[in-house]
Amino acid sequence: MIKKTILTILDKKQVGEKITMLTCYDYVIARLISSQDIDILLVGDSLGNVKLGYENTLPVTIDDMVYHTKAVKRGNNGALLVTDMPFMSYEITVEDAVRNAARIVKEGGAEAVKIEGGTEVIKSVKAIVDAKIPVVGHLGLTPQSINKFGGFKVQGKTAKARSKIISDAEALEKAGVFLIVLEAVPEQVAKEITQRLKIPTIGIGAGIYCDGQVLVIDDMLGLFTDFTPKFVKKYANVGEIIKTAVNSYINEVKSGQFPKEENTYL
Ligand code: KIV
Repeated sequence: MIKKTILTILDKKQVGEKITMLTCYDYVIARLISSQDIDILLVGDSLGNVKLGYENTLPVTIDDMVYHTKAVKRGNNGALLVTDMPFMSYEITVEDAVRNAARIVKEGGAEAVKIEGGTEVIKSVKAIVDAKIPVVGHLGLTPQSINKFGGFKVQGKTAKARSKIISDAEALEKAGVFLIVLEAVPEQVAKEITQRLKIPTIGIGAGIYCDGQVLVIDDMLGLFTDFTPKFVKKYANVGEIIKTAVNSYINEVKSGQFPKEENTYL
């Protein structure tokens, strides 16, 4: 697969080609997804929910992100590899932010990091970009702000909230991010941001006008079913396939149908 870089992603907006992005947390899935010419693999801190079973993303650590990034890196064939900076890894001091971003790149092998928030995180964004690490912004329903928002709610619905998201997007672009994820915002807000910015936008629950789309792989494969937001489309029901296969295995072991001669060293 031809290696995708941040330039490939920026070019896609120029030529009007949609950008494809999926989350990924391990080697096997990285192999499978990247064999299909996906543009970006995101080691999202959603791994807190879908891989570690936490209620939200807040407990996820830099060590968790580095560990999963290393596994994805080993399976990736050509996609741009982006990793989330987890809650409180970039908010306390700018030095902390740069040090943690550097760990994700040096130890994990990511090619860019993603940070949630707008003007309030601009100093960290600039410092990380100045440290030669590409940054992806993330606005709208930023899951690390769950306690501040009081739940998973669509953002940017009032005129004030709408203009805050738009000005945050412009501030992030000015600070040097090369891509912005817009999560759970009204379609018209995402459209306006996408038209105003030179850098691409990636939507998740942000409608059709974004320059690309991202989904959590466990949601779109039907593996994670604890809760399913409206914006998820299930492209497969792998959870049911797993249950059926495990059930057949249990029955065959119990009945003596497995293993057969072809599964046995004679
Ligand atoms: O953590 C994550 O999976 C994300 C995507 C939902 C964009 O940030």
